[in-house]
This record gives sequence, C-alpha cells and structure tokens, in this order.
Amino acid sequence: MRKETADDRIRIFDTTLRDGEQAPGCSMTLREKLRIARALADLRVDVIEAGFPAASPGDFASVKAIADENLGPTICGLARCNREDIEKVHAAVKGADKHRIHVFVATSEIHREHKLKMAKEEILKSATGSVRLARELCEDVEFSPEDASRTEPAYLAEVVTAAIEAGARTINIPDTVGYAVPGEFDQLFRYLKEHVPGLDDVVLSVHCHDDLGMAVANSLAAVAAGARQVECTINGIGERAGNCSLEEIVMALATRSEYFGLETGVDTTRLYPTSRLVSSITGMHIPRNKAVVGENAFAHEAGIHQHGMLQHHSTYEIMRPGDVGRSHSNLVLGKHSGRHAFRDRVKDLGFDLDEFETNRAFQAFKKLADRKKDLYDGDIEAIIMNVDSTSAGPWMLQSLQVTSQTDQQASAVIRLLNDNGDEVSESAQADGPVAAAFNAIEQATGVCIALKNFELHSATIGEDAQGEVVVTVEHNGNSYRGHGVSVDIVEAGSRAYLEVINRILRRRERGLDTVDGGSDVNRASI
Ligand code: KIV
Ligand code: ZN
Repeated sequence: MRKETADDRIRIFDTTLRDGEQAPGCSMTLREKLRIARALADLRVDVIEAGFPAASPGDFASVKAIADENLGPTICGLARCNREDIEKVHAAVKGADKHRIHVFVATSEIHREHKLKMAKEEILKSATGSVRLARELCEDVEFSPEDASRTEPAYLAEVVTAAIEAGARTINIPDTVGYAVPGEFDQLFRYLKEHVPGLDDVVLSVHCHDDLGMAVANSLAAVAAGARQVECTINGIGERAGNCSLEEIVMALATRSEYFGLETGVDTTRLYPTSRLVSSITGMHIPRNKAVVGENAFAHEAGIHQHGMLQHHSTYEIMRPGDVGRSHSNLVLGKHSGRHAFRDRVKDLGFDLDEFETNRAFQAFKKLADRKKDLYDGDIEAIIMNVDSTSAGPWMLQSLQVTSQTDQQASAVIRLLNDNGDEVSESAQADGPVAAAFNAIEQATGVCIALKNFELHSATIGEDAQGEVVVTVEHNGNSYRGHGVSVDIVEAGSRAYLEVINRILRRRERGLDTVDGGSDVNRASI
C-alpha cells in the first residue's frame, strides 16, 4: 500500500466515555467512568474523550475528575460552537498535563436547513470564531464538521481550511450517520488532501458510525487515504448502531501491518480485559461472534478446522488469543486461592480496587467459592460489580426468600438493611417470582419505578454458572440501568433492581430527583 503521509503512527482517540456513553442505556456513574478511564490509560490510547461537560453538571464533574487524575493520555472534552461550552470544557480538562478542546458544528445541507437553520456563511463564521476562542484557552484544539460525509465536498473543504487557519490542530471528519461506503469515503479524504491547504500540517482524523456495519471499513479507508487519528470506542458502543470498534481497528492495523505499514501505541494484550470491563460496567453484552473479543472469536468447532489447528495454529487463526489478552482457559481461581492471586487477577481484569474494596471483594469471592466449584473471569467481574453496586448504598440486600409454583401466585419476602442500620422486611406477591421480589423491594424502599427491560445472561460457562441480570428502568423521565449477579437468578434480578433504586435515592439526596414516580409497566411475566 502506498502511504499517504510520512507519519506512520495512528493515534487512537477513544470516545467510549462520550459517544459510547450516548448509547441508549449506557450512562455511567463517575466512579464507573474513572474505572474505564484508568483502563484506557493502561491500554495506552492516545486521547480519551472524557465527556461533554456542558451536557450536565454530572458530565462536567466526571470529565474534571478524569482530567485531574492526569492519567497520561490527552484528556479531551466536547463543545458546541459557543463560549459557554468551550469555557466549560477548558475548566474541566485543564487539570491534565495534556488536554484538548474538541469543537464541532454540523455542516451538511440537511443539518444546516433542518437542525441549525443557519446559512453556510454563518456556520463558517461560528466554526472559525469558536476554534479561535478555544485556541486562546488551549494549544490543542480539534475541529469536527458534523455530518461531513453528507456535506458538499467543496463547502467541507472551505470550512476545514478556515478551521485550520483559525488554529485547529486536528481536523476530524465524521461519518455521523454511518452513511459512507469505503470507496467513496477514501475519495472524500483524497479530495480534502488535494483541496485543503495546510491539511498536511495538522492531524487528519476519522470518526465513523456503524449504521450500515461499515464503521471499521470506512475508518480503514480513511487511514489508507491519509488519516492519522481514528476515533473509536471499546466494543463499538455509541449512538444508535455504535461507533468504530477500538479493538477491531487496532487489531486490523496490527494483523495487517504488512499492508498498512502503520502502527498504534496500544498495548493489544489489554484489549480483552478492557472490553470485558466496559461490557460489565455498561451492561452491554458482547455478542458471541463479535470480532476479536467475542466468546467465539477464537473457538474452532468444525472437525476439519480443529484438525488444521492441531497441525499448525496459523491454518485457521490470524491472531493469537494471547495477542489480545485472552488466556486459553479462563478458569482462574478456586476455593484455595489466596488473597494475592485474587488481587493479581482483579488487576489483570482491569479493575483498580483500593484496600477496602479488595477486602470486600475477596470475602465475596470466598463465599462464592463455597457455592460454586469452578471460578472464571466472569465470576470475578461479577463479584466486583456486585460489591461496587451495593457498597454505594443506601440499601443492602440481607436476605430473600421466594416461593413459586405453577398456576399459583409467586411470593417473596425481602429483608433490607439501610445506611442508618435500620432493617426493613416486606413481602409481596405477583405472577412470577422476580416480579414478587421487585414489588417487595419497592415496598421496603418506598421507591416505585417502571421496568423497561430485563436481560438475563450466563456470566460464565457450566451448569453452575452465575446468572447476570441487567435491568433498565425509568423514573421521573430518567433512564437507569442496574446489574446484579448471583447463582440464583431471582437474587441477581433483585440486586440489579436494588442497585437502580440506590442510584435514584443517591440522586435524590443530591437534589437531582425529587418526586416519586413510575408505574409497573411490563414486569408481570418475568
Ligand atoms: O458523530 C459525530 O459527528 C460526532 C461528532 C461530535 C464528532 O460524534
Ligand atoms: Zn459520533
């Protein structure tokens, strides 16, 4: 392949905490975002887009907390073209030695006419004025013409030229709605290279969405045409169908290095643990057949393939599991494993626990080891997520007793303990055992919520695998997600439900959620 620039290094710009968090049901707490940011730093991404500070006080606080940890990568925040957004980003990111302001405005005719109701000249002025303002505050400014792939190329070139003249150091070309196809996108990048003076002096970047399943292919086309920064997310999470998946683009560049002749700074052995971490935090399950990180990505079923593999792994394997941080067997620890081994494994899985959290997680691990013979990575992740969700309070599950029988109402008796040391016990009935437990929890906590979705997965393999439940609920117009894990699926569901209620109560304590609301929507059958 002919290289389009002398620069052989692809910068990986991770936007899991911004575009990724925009995926339905993927909002995260500050603590969860910090966990992911630390894992991204360990993965050695170049830039972490930590959020959109003007979106809410919570967004501002999490971007600031991440920047203040000064983790190593450049910390970036997103801003619309207005003073308030730009100043907020600066205030949030400036704690990091390396920080960036990312300014965007839509440029396509559809967005100009229907969303912004602004003429081309106005948009151009707004873009340049905002880039200039951002440059007054920060050396490192990125500019994105939103919906670039549906913008008239000549106008796109004009806006980009003006943004560079105003001081942008990175020009990012987004395929905002996942409309591009690789050949055409390659042409667009070549067109810009030809028609934008000064484009060779800045970093050209690409940002693709996956609406037609081509985000990675389009990003690679842009790279082949000269892009040197790729914006992507762990597991490809993001708006609608998601963004370009970080693990796929990184492994495509690494595995086909003889074709691309380019490298990233990513430690590929951290890909799998980081993917698992993001999946367990967001509750976004990774499909089994997902490239690079799916359960089946390195599994060989057909006899002929297995035979080939036994002769030489390269017959059917283009990457080694170890390259992406997967061990052949993830059977890790057992009843007799010590605290040391447990702590090392937790760290390998991308979790950074303090002494208190480690102790609590280790106790939970020992308890689980008494109930379950084989313990896998998924079990350890589940333990940590459980400890995490309950340690934040105010309610903790003490005990749960459920009875259910065909053709009869199920009943549940729940005992909860709150931060003040008060114990509350309630019983309730419903058509199914999970619904009965949820009703009892609502009565005990006094919080009534509307269940929107209930997902149950097996956290690991084997007959004694733990059940992992993710619930999505609505309360006063806000969507909340909670997860719980247990060898007993009713208990797992109850933990997830309680996590959500705890989140609502903590928001209420901070004055962000006041009125009780919600109604029973679709839980009757579970
Ligand atoms: O998809 C998009 O256009 C974006 C921009 C804000 C970069 O996310
Ligand atoms: Zn996007």
